[in-house]
Amino acid sequence: MERLVINGGTALRGSVEINGAKNAAVAILPAAVVASKGKCVIDNIPDIEDVHCLERILRSLGCTVNKLDNNTLEVDSSDVTNFDACTDDVRRMRASYYFIGALLTRFKQAKVQLPGGCPIGVRPIDQHIKGFEALGAEVVIEHGSVILKADKLVGADIFFDVVSVGATINVMIAATLAEGITTLENVAKEPHVVDVANFLNTMGANIKGAGTDIIRIMGVKELKGCSYSVIPDQIEAGTFMIAAAATKGDVTITNVIPKHLESISAKLKEMGAIVEEGDDSIRVTVDKELKGVNIKTTPYPGFPTDVQQPMSALLSTVAGRSLITESIWENRHKHIDELKKMGSNIKVEGRVAIIDGVKKLTGAIVKATDLRAGAAMVIAGLVAEGETQITSIEHIDRGYPHIENKFSALGADIHRIKVQE
Ligand code: EPU
Repeated sequence: MERLVINGGTALRGSVEINGAKNAAVAILPAAVVASKGKCVIDNIPDIEDVHCLERILRSLGCTVNKLDNNTLEVDSSDVTNFDACTDDVRRMRASYYFIGALLTRFKQAKVQLPGGCPIGVRPIDQHIKGFEALGAEVVIEHGSVILKADKLVGADIFFDVVSVGATINVMIAATLAEGITTLENVAKEPHVVDVANFLNTMGANIKGAGTDIIRIMGVKELKGCSYSVIPDQIEAGTFMIAAAATKGDVTITNVIPKHLESISAKLKEMGAIVEEGDDSIRVTVDKELKGVNIKTTPYPGFPTDVQQPMSALLSTVAGRSLITESIWENRHKHIDELKKMGSNIKVEGRVAIIDGVKKLTGAIVKATDLRAGAAMVIAGLVAEGETQITSIEHIDRGYPHIENKFSALGADIHRIKVQE
């Protein structure tokens, strides 16, 4: 097993380049299965465990996957005939559910193992299923797999009951080859939803309105290979912005789309940090004591749930009281017990974390209970006095590429060790 070891107390300084968006890449790779001709060359793919897992699933389906460099994959799905994605890798991660939409639209049938992912709450897929059924698929769940069959898929008007990133993307993929027009309402507007729509359009789909309240998909006959570059990761960027503020550092975060970071920038400014936007960069500096703020997570363009855990580490040492209300996931405060081991003064009442800032955190052995919890522990370790060891870092490796190298380059004392556990 591996751990991250951090000796805290260094203000981060310098510049860090953000990689491609995990939550876009993990949808784009399954969507590449829809291309029945030609190769997809996809650039700016983050080098993370979730992507490695998807590469294995693509190969198990019969795709040819070539790694052109660390961040570029070539996926050739033209010879795929297999619509059965039932491997341990499929079960291991959340985004494998995008194979349902992709295989269904291409083959009019699919069998996909139910997905895993971070333990942050109940993660139903009823809205995905509602969409597939509306398009004409018969859906059953048997022995832990979703099995879908359709004589043909026909466009439909679908109004989602909850705003879901996964359901929006999955049904959008499934509708690309359906006959006629599909209208999706009450959709997610996250930047990665738009990115997946752009990727599908580059393959030949006809999708309009991604990023707004209504997405319209005019079905086409086939999708073909293309070249595409994934957008920068909003959440990785937000994590480095927060780490810069937490260590009272001076960090320029490059390869970002500042517009995607507005809700995070606004909160950091409200706390008293200086946030300067460039065309494709953001600089975060702190020249005074920060103050507590209240945060409520909401779908985009609101404050992202995936950034609230890192934020709780920052707010732990900020004077005054802060409240974080998690409105998307019912179980995303599990990391708070770990932060408490480092001296944080936080109480959780239902979905609200009540944080009373303390003067300092102290290093401890703590666990990354999920991906973003792991990022929170790294930030806490960076500000804490003494040594922090983070266990279960496989969660962090699922979504943050080479995290210790990036923080080391900013001056942090952080490295990875192997231990017998
Ligand atoms: N929901 C339903 N029914 C559904 C789908 C979702 O009730 O069929 C509910 C969920 O229980 C949740 C809410 O809707 O309360 C939102 O869930 P959503 O479907 O938007 O989440 P997701 O697609 O499973 C993605 C990201 C998460 C991120 C959420 C919200 C991926 C692979 N995962 O999950 O990212 O928290 O959107 O933005 O894209 C992470 O990166 O750490 C992470 C967990």
